[in-house]
Order: sequence, then C-alpha cells, then structure tokens
Amino acid sequence: MKLTSKEQDMLDGKYGKATQKSMEILATLGDIYEAEEMIEIKSVQISGVSYANLDEAGLDFLNEMAIDGKARVLTTLNPAGMDRDNWQALGIDENFAMNQNRVIDAFAKMGVITTCTCTPYLIGNLPHYGQHVAWAESSAVCFCNSVIGAYTNREGGPSALASSLTGRTPKYGYHLEENRHGEILFEIKTPIKGTNMFGVLGKVIGDKLGEYKKKIPYITGISKATVEELKSFCASVATYGGTALFHMENITPEASKYPIPTEKKIEINTKDIERGLTELIDEDIEVDFVSIGCPHASIEEISQVAKLLEGKKVTKEFWITTGRPTKKIADEAGYTKIIEEAGAKFAADTCCVVAPIKGRFKGIVVDSAKACYYGRAKNKFKVKIATIEDCVNEAIK
Ligand code: F3S
Repeated sequence: MKLTSKEQDMLDGKYGKATQKSMEILATLGDIYEAEEMIEIKSVQISGVSYANLDEAGLDFLNEMAIDGKARVLTTLNPAGMDRDNWQALGIDENFAMNQNRVIDAFAKMGVITTCTCTPYLIGNLPHYGQHVAWAESSAVCFCNSVIGAYTNREGGPSALASSLTGRTPKYGYHLEENRHGEILFEIKTPIKGTNMFGVLGKVIGDKLGEYKKKIPYITGISKATVEELKSFCASVATYGGTALFHMENITPEASKYPIPTEKKIEINTKDIERGLTELIDEDIEVDFVSIGCPHASIEEISQVAKLLEGKKVTKEFWITTGRPTKKIADEAGYTKIIEEAGAKFAADTCCVVAPIKGRFKGIVVDSAKACYYGRAKNKFKVKIATIEDCVNEAIK
C-alpha cells in the first residue's frame, strides 16, 4: 500500500505505540483487500462495547491502546450492556456493571465520546453526503451509506478503533464509487407504512438477497419514508441480508446517480409482506416484555410513546431504548416524566439485544424486525412484531 509520509511515521511508531498498532491493523486490512492507499475519515462509530462481548481479553486490548492512544476524529460508541445511570432499575448485575464501566473508562481515556448509541446520526455524529467515515454497527453503516450517502465499510470493533486513533481507513469496498451501484432490482408493489412494516420489508428483501448472493438492492415503488422508517429498514435489511448499502428511488440520495440494475428483477407483493409479517410473530407467545427503540429511538418516537402512555399504567416490563442525548431532550420536554409515571423505563446507552438479559423474559413485543431476530437467536425469547401503538397497548394490557 502507498502510505503518505505521515502515515509511514505512524507505522514507524513516531506517534506512539497505540497509533503504530492501529496503523499496522489498517495496513494489514488494506493489503488483504488490495487497497492502494489510505483515506482520511471524518468520524468513527465503534461497536463491540458491551462487556458481555469483550470480556477480559477485549478489555486488556482496550487498556493497552488507552496507554497513549487518542481519538483523532469524532468518535462515538455503539450501545453498551447497560444504562450507565439506570442499570439497577433494569436488573443488571453489579459485577457486570463494574466491568462495563471499566470498558467505558478505557474508551473515555482515549478521548472517545462515551455516548453509546446505534443511531449516532441522531445525536451529532452526522457526516454529510460523500464524506468518508469508518463506522461499525450494521444498521448505522447501512443508514450512513444509503440514507446519508456518506461512504463507509462495515468495520469491526478493532478496525474502527484503529481508524479513530489514526484518522484513516484503507480505501477499498464502499469507499470506491465503482462498488456502490445497485445489483438487483426490487419493485415494491404494495404500500409500506410504519417502522414495523419497513422492518418486515427489510426482512423480505434481506432473505431474497441471501438467495441471490447479491448485496446492493435497488428499490422502487416506495413513495415516502420517514427517518424512523428508514432506520428500521436499515437495521432489518442489514440483519437479514447483510446489506451495507441500498438505493431507494426518489428517497435515497445516490439512487439517481447509478443506473437501475436490469440483470435481475424481483417483485415484492402483498403476499410476500404478509408472509414476512407472519414469520415475525410466534403464535404461542406469552408476553412479559415490551421494548421500543431498535435502532435507538428518536425524540419523535419517544414523544409518540409518551402520548400513548399518558395517564396509563404498564403491566409488563417496558423499555424505551435510546441514546443518552435523546433521553436528555425527552427529560426537558416532559416525556420522561409521563413515561416513568406510567411505569415504563428508559434504557439509555443499551438495548434489549446487547443487555445481558438472556432467558430473563419469555416473550417480547417490539416494532423492530432486527430485535425479533436477535430476541430469538441470542436471548431465546418468543417474539412478536407490532406497531408502536400496539406495543404500548400490549404493555398496558
Ligand atoms: Fe441498536 Fe441494539 Fe437494535 S444496537 S440496532 S437497538 S439491536
């Protein structure tokens, strides 16, 4: 790989050990993917923050990097295993909480902003069209590439940290224009509305992409979509199809930049969507847990939940998962008071998937197809997807 003199100095250790280690990781990655050079990036989003995933080996790596490593670009974190303020109310074990804080402290020492969220674009880590970044969380990567039109590969935890400490990433994959065109056309022939149904659409498309081994869908037939619907779709299509980039005609910014693929066309009709919906509802579910905010809830979604809960009482564990800055806006707007008076709980910094709650509940109702996937696969819950309104109704039933 061709390195600039500054990058070579980083590799030679002139900027310290953590920067050297980081440049070694990135140069190795670049060699593997045959990148010709590094590219400067504007921001980083790091995954693998939960102590449940990192364990002591991961924490040792972070502490070693934190000896002299410093973030060179704006860097935020993916959700951790707990709400850093409210972990006791969420039933998190004290020992886990102590270890989770050790992880966050290591990141803080490196100058990483310790806001733990999978929707960094809602809390100020928002690149603009055409900028290069190095993000890790799959739903955020998909949103970043597709909805914002910024460029990122899907980084792993160590490579994202390495990019943070150097301000560089190898130029390959989705950083190159020639790799960003649509590969398979999806014509949507049925109306799609709501975060839950955009999640179902993501699952239906994601499942089909797996069959054809293609990764970049070009989607037509969607006339409008909110930010919340698109974030739900991104999480779902990334989960079920491994998609890091899609184009949606008249919705996403690069859709008009690349030709509509002609090689393969798939129609998605009402029956496909109904089938997808059915597959996300376990018939014999016994609901004892409800969660909104996968990906992390926007202030708009929190306001909707507050309106639906006003003057009511929940009868089941109900988590609203979000980024801490969004929770602060909810505090100021009075939504938190309404939600907590109803008995629901905020789980900022974390979510119903990364928190260590495997086996704690029998059945979860969510508005997210991604949460359904991991609710089953990771936490062994029965699942049901529903609209936000129906999630709230389930919580107060
Ligand atoms: Fe975010 Fe957790 Fe869902 S990380 S996308 S809320 S599984």
